[in-house]
Amino acid sequence: MKIPPNVFVFDTSEQLALAAAERFVQYAVESQEMMDRFSVALAGGKTPKRVYELLATAQFKSRVKWSGVHFFFGDERCVPPNHPESNYAMVYEALFSKVEIPAQNVHRMIGEGDTSDNALAYEIQLKAFFAGRDWPRFDLVLLGIGKDGHTASLFPGSDAIKETSRWVVTTEDKQSGHQRLTLTLPAINHAARIAFLATGTEKAATLSELLAGQSVSHRLPASLIHPVDGTIEWLITTDARSDL
Ligand code: 6PG
Repeated sequence: MKIPPNVFVFDTSEQLALAAAERFVQYAVESQEMMDRFSVALAGGKTPKRVYELLATAQFKSRVKWSGVHFFFGDERCVPPNHPESNYAMVYEALFSKVEIPAQNVHRMIGEGDTSDNALAYEIQLKAFFAGRDWPRFDLVLLGIGKDGHTASLFPGSDAIKETSRWVVTTEDKQSGHQRLTLTLPAINHAARIAFLATGTEKAATLSELLAGQSVSHRLPASLIHPVDGTIEWLITTDARSDL
């Protein structure tokens, strides 16, 4: 099958992570030249961790004006910030603990405590940052994908994927039983740039179905990610490309 122009295939996960880190720097520089700030919603899970680690290395660290970067999260597990399942904990260990980022620039989704209150609090925080907008306009949203087609914490068949007015909702990862917070589809789809990062043979079939563009359904939440007025690109590794 012909590879769509917005799909980039890499032989190794390290090459993918390097390419994603380069994009992060490029987009941060462009955004800061235009608006003096760069807002990014980070993906959780294992795939993006190496990207965050690379951004903290000498090869990338000095190329970003960190004081102008605002970090948000696409989703979070409802656990404390020092919990091994916490996306915040993963990014803190990989990046936040290694570069000078003003504390007020890290917009953590609160995982501990009342999940509904935390979802509302994050939505209020987003509405303050993106004041005057009907939807958040992240300069970049990084997303991963599960083999079941979930992205962020938008799981197949969940009510969260039907949400059309809230920016942040609670949901549940039925596999782990963990409550989660997640950006909603419209909150993601109004981003200026969306970049999926996917590696691993277990995702090949899902990616192949997704990138063939035939199935747009709640069964495959990642198929519902379509920028309203922005760009979308896929960074995948050859082991995740199936018949692409
Ligand atoms: C999370 C993520 C989730 C993740 C996918 C892929 O909090 O887990 O937001 O959507 O991106 O599950 O995870 P891996 O990168 O670990 O395969």
